[in-house]
Amino acid sequence: MKYNEKLQSRIDEVAEVAGYLWEKGWAERNGGNISYNITDVVDDNIRALTPVSEKFPIGKPVPALSGNYFLVTGTGKRMRYVHSSPMDNASIIRISGDGSYYEIMAEKPIRPTSELPSHLMIHNHMAEQGRDIKSVIHTHPIELVAMTHNPAMLEKDVLGKILWSMIPETRAFCPKGLGIIPYTCPGTVELAEATVRELDEYDIVMWEKHGAVGIGTDLIEPFDMIDTFTKSAKIYMSAMAMGFTPAGMTDAQMDEMKEKFNL
Ligand code: 13P
Ligand code: ZN
Repeated sequence: MKYNEKLQSRIDEVAEVAGYLWEKGWAERNGGNISYNITDVVDDNIRALTPVSEKFPIGKPVPALSGNYFLVTGTGKRMRYVHSSPMDNASIIRISGDGSYYEIMAEKPIRPTSELPSHLMIHNHMAEQGRDIKSVIHTHPIELVAMTHNPAMLEKDVLGKILWSMIPETRAFCPKGLGIIPYTCPGTVELAEATVRELDEYDIVMWEKHGAVGIGTDLIEPFDMIDTFTKSAKIYMSAMAMGFTPAGMTDAQMDEMKEKFNL
């Protein structure tokens, strides 16, 4: 199918980021998923399409997404193939007027990710808040997930502060820190609800022993934040591997950053 330039560039962005996720080793098999709100770039060609699927009920309705269109990676689909052939591994869905079901509109009847409850509830919540959030990304970054296996790091803001203190960039480019969600079964509405709550306070949250979730006005922004936190996690682990606990930047040094960069 031929898409208009703006929609094609969203598809290209998903393909680009999917490639990074695979290259980084964060996307084993079908690990991770992406959704991108494309409502502002769909044209009459897309609006005229007849659905290629039945109507699928949405567990918890999302009325603020009435009539919205999303590009969503498919369940069981591999990021390395989302990269090489996005529309064979993702589909465009449309939310019904009352927000209670969705239909697949293009191109193939590829069922969206099993984490759709989290994706849609996050988009719904952000729309209700009037925040311009278009993308949600979930991925399995090795070092960050490893750190969530340490109970001491699951206390509020402990892991986030350690990561901030590893290198000034993390404090500057991930200014809201890192939220933590205690282990909850993947794909559930409970996990989605906890994630929505935590994203009021943080831009990136960790699902304990599972992975990261990020949101942004585009897809590059949350990818970069997860990448930056991962850089900090690697610095922490490199120091530990050399036999010492890293000192970290001091609170005063971090406060200085906060003031200087208006964070
Ligand atoms: P999907 O293949 O259904 O997107 O699941 C991958 C995943 O990471 C679940 O948390
Ligand atoms: Zn996952």
